[in-house]
Amino acid sequence: MQRETDFVVVGSGIAGLRAALEIAAGGACVVVLTKERAAESNTEYAQGGVAVALSEDDETSLHEDDTRGAGAGLCDERAVRVLVEDGRRYMRELIEWGAEFDREGGRLLFTQEAAHSRRRILHAGGDATGHEIVRALLARARADERIRFLAHAATEELIVEDGRCRGVRYLDPLVRASRSLRARAVVLASGGAGQLYLHTTNPQVATGDGMAMAYAAGAELADMEFVQFHPTALNVEGAPRFLLSEAMRGEGGVLRNAEGKRFMPRYHERAELAPRDIVSRAIVAELERTATRTAFIDMTALDARFLRRRFPKIYDTCLRHGLDITREPVPVSPAAHYIMGGVRTDLDGRTTLHGLYAAGEVACTGVHGANRLASNSLLEGLVFGARAGRAAAAAAHAADAPGSPPDDTNGDGAGQATMSDANAGEIALAVRKRVRRLMWERVGILRSRQSLTRALGELEQIERARSLRAPSRNFVTVALLVARAALWREESRGAHFRYDFPAPDDARWRVHSINSRTSGVSASEVIEFSAGSNLREMAKARR
Ligand code: SIN
Repeated sequence: MQRETDFVVVGSGIAGLRAALEIAAGGACVVVLTKERAAESNTEYAQGGVAVALSEDDETSLHEDDTRGAGAGLCDERAVRVLVEDGRRYMRELIEWGAEFDREGGRLLFTQEAAHSRRRILHAGGDATGHEIVRALLARARADERIRFLAHAATEELIVEDGRCRGVRYLDPLVRASRSLRARAVVLASGGAGQLYLHTTNPQVATGDGMAMAYAAGAELADMEFVQFHPTALNVEGAPRFLLSEAMRGEGGVLRNAEGKRFMPRYHERAELAPRDIVSRAIVAELERTATRTAFIDMTALDARFLRRRFPKIYDTCLRHGLDITREPVPVSPAAHYIMGGVRTDLDGRTTLHGLYAAGEVACTGVHGANRLASNSLLEGLVFGARAGRAAAAAAHAADAPGSPPDDTNGDGAGQATMSDANAGEIALAVRKRVRRLMWERVGILRSRQSLTRALGELEQIERARSLRAPSRNFVTVALLVARAALWREESRGAHFRYDFPAPDDARWRVHSINSRTSGVSASEVIEFSAGSNLREMAKARR
């Protein structure tokens, strides 16, 4: 283990890798901590692609309008401008760094996805976009001797001293003991929280720990009620809810109900390409109406060779479950996919806690508002990962108190366990199972005061159990943050739908929800942050 660590990055998806590269480019050393192997992240599984206004008939202003349209009045306009404009530059750079996006005759291929007014989604390997991005960024990061990876090292908490984040405590996989790793600043890029739900497209690592740790350390979280449910996850008994990319509908796939009838035109003028929340709720309504458990995506009108080439991963995965997408409609239903809320940041990843930066799905930059436009998240990770890395490095170089060398000798959490690992493992599994069902049934696609109050009661009861260890406690904390914000927002907007308040209410609710340890849930105006904004001053003023 090296003796000097300038910066810690938690997470190795697109935002974490891009932040680490930016910090290293400034000459500092970075340790990237990952819960599993370095290549495992939500990014790795991203299929559809990266939305970026690079095609000849596109403009950043159109991308901006589409993003704001999907965000249902809650997008931070400055953040959106940064996303679409910086996004072009960072994507060109990524291509220069070796990421290979699909082309025809040397020209980049752009696909269509829901709520985009242009074909602007770049993809790689057909439907393996995330994998290609991780490959290219990891190769570059591994070639940089200032970046070190610490894999299978779950971060347990943030070290906060004198109101400043000074590093992390993590579980050392070799000795199974807690260790401290001190640094000048920490960039959280630990991803989302799809695992909170019984049905999710997210991998096992997406448990929201970064959000819980930031909250426990005193940082503010914003817009946690906005959870996006992807309309089309594979719905086969016993199989994981594998994502069937929105690009399938972009290429001409249609949705059918159990009676074999196409239904989306009845719900929205853009039919299958309506915003995701509308498609997800339409599917739920159709399932209720037909008293069945699954809808279907039908690709059979498309050329079979095209489908195999365009969606190789989806084709193979469905085939493994006995389904040939070129010949038959495939069963689908919605699943938790992305959380728009997260650790509140300004345009440079600064959170309300000094020394702590956040980027990617763990963060809430305000870019997505109440509903994320398809394929904007990889772009967000890239752009705001770079910005957070640069801001962290600049601020920490200016700070007069550098981090101390990492403590790599004391297994200072060792021996604190009060129960056997086997018992703890069983409890953790049981907690997770209960929370995931509760979240799916009561804090899911359709919510009400009654369902949310019952969920909160149960979650608070689970939270009080003394036997909860760090990972389970974090899991329950994030579930509570989502449920509290969802109960607080008495309207329907974007991905948040309440039976008891089915319409948006701009006069009262065109505000962000802010979750903080000191003040619970409160409102914050939809305002424009500027670089070096007064986010921390605003947080102080509310206390
Ligand atoms: C998809 O391929 O449908 C997912 C893309 C996204 O979530 O942005």
